[in-house]
Amino acid sequence: MTDCCAKQDFDTFTRNTIKPTTSINRHEITRGLFIEAGTTSDGNCNPACTETELQLASSEPIKIELGQSWFTAVRGQSCVVELNNLNIAFRNLSCTASQMSDKFKLPARYGAGEKSVWVEYIQLAAEYKPAVNLGQGFPDYHAPKHVTKALGEIAISENPLLNQYTRGFGHPPLIQSLSKVYSPLIGKEINPQNEILVTYGAYEALYSAILGHVEEGDEVIVIEPFFDCYDFMIKSAGGIPRFIALNPKKTTGTVTSADWVLDEKELESLFSSKTKMIILNTPHNPLGKVFTRQELELIANLCKKHNVLCLSDEVYEWMVFEPVQHIRIATLPGMWERTITVGSAGKTFSVTGWKTGWAYGPAALMFNLQVVHQNCVYTCCTPIQEAISRSFEYELARRDSPDCYFKALARELLPKRDFLVNTLRENGFNPTIPEAGYFIIADWTKLANKIDLSSEGDKYKDYKFTKKFAKETGVLTIPPTAFYSEGHKHLGENFARFCFIKKDENLSLAGKLMKEWNAKK
Ligand SMILES: Cc1ncc(COP(=O)(O)O)c(C=O)c1O
Repeated sequence: MTDCCAKQDFDTFTRNTIKPTTSINRHEITRGLFIEAGTTSDGNCNPACTETELQLASSEPIKIELGQSWFTAVRGQSCVVELNNLNIAFRNLSCTASQMSDKFKLPARYGAGEKSVWVEYIQLAAEYKPAVNLGQGFPDYHAPKHVTKALGEIAISENPLLNQYTRGFGHPPLIQSLSKVYSPLIGKEINPQNEILVTYGAYEALYSAILGHVEEGDEVIVIEPFFDCYDFMIKSAGGIPRFIALNPKKTTGTVTSADWVLDEKELESLFSSKTKMIILNTPHNPLGKVFTRQELELIANLCKKHNVLCLSDEVYEWMVFEPVQHIRIATLPGMWERTITVGSAGKTFSVTGWKTGWAYGPAALMFNLQVVHQNCVYTCCTPIQEAISRSFEYELARRDSPDCYFKALARELLPKRDFLVNTLRENGFNPTIPEAGYFIIADWTKLANKIDLSSEGDKYKDYKFTKKFAKETGVLTIPPTAFYSEGHKHLGENFARFCFIKKDENLSLAGKLMKEWNAKK
């Protein structure tokens, strides 16, 4: 292998060698060349500090990330290095590396192993330290007191078993609480023993449902924009995702999430004998759309007609702004039998770091999820499950009171949503007003002439925009093309996703920073 830098064994590059290049294509990175890097606090390279292995498969310049730093390299030419507080030394280990690379390459079912948007943007946040992070979806303020207090009490409880393994498919008190919460909402008694599974976040519930049901060659219908891991999970199960995009009926004037709709005919055309599952996400991330009864009926009828499962991701179920109502598709006639519904304690109680979720559905369907779960994580964290159970019991006791967190949460979020919608409008964005959840998708087309994106090497405009915008304003957001399949990414390029479950002072600061930025332009 005679890739870049072969002749520059152990050369240490310094800031003087910087030659900016803009093309970035992470898909091209596989394996083969050993790179070592270290920080420059003392001006010397520390080769032991960070290691990665890669091969430049294309003649295009690529960006390579090492910890929180990065550089670009070009195959077959002298290496162009961009230093970001780094000295980098290269060593060509072609023989060993190329022999090793075939055997230990990433299994094909995992694709090219690209970083998810979350990994990339958390790294970006650590690097740029934005003044306000409106990127990832989590509150920057405390969860309800009774929730965190419960966990504290459990950790030091007299009962030693609360800190030991619990039942694999769900801690007994938690499955009882979940049954109490959902049975009245679904209109049937949910059996806590075999119709509920507690998982590591909604993520694992989705994983167990997809891996437990999708076989090689099965098709799964995914509605775009979609929570990005669906695609990966389907493919790693050997399934084939079939995408259909929600499109806005209008793009100017006041746009709400209800304006984003599916084309009925197109949806119908995706269903066939090969279809195993459709993934529904309502309330929807990132649009905040709450599917109407009519839309759910369309999906339900197609599921019944073609004998298809519905995996319904409802993690934002308690954040719906009146008068809009969340309808659980499992409650539609004939749908309980073919629906697996997913929820999240992280979203329900504003404790995303607790990473506990669940799935519920008929025992015959849940069995498949149990098999995946028992051979993957087996059992979830006992004290956290106990605390979630106690939190549910606390809320169930005040279910009819306006203080119940299931109602209070949406009330708390509404003024934040309105504030951010207005702020975005005042600053040249056109936001889609969400009916639920805590994200706003905002069109930045009108700002395009105020921001020079040429320095950003990403492929998609929204990645360029969100990065440059974060650097210039200090406000970090998320690029929505991460929620689209390769062929449909252009549909998300003119948007940025803002999260508004943040302290009022931080939302105000975001407004102030955007205003100052606009004034300078
Ligand atoms: C639509 C959707 N589904 C699932 C999840 C994962 O939830 P959890 O943190 O409980 O794994 C998220 C988290 O942001 C989400 O937005």
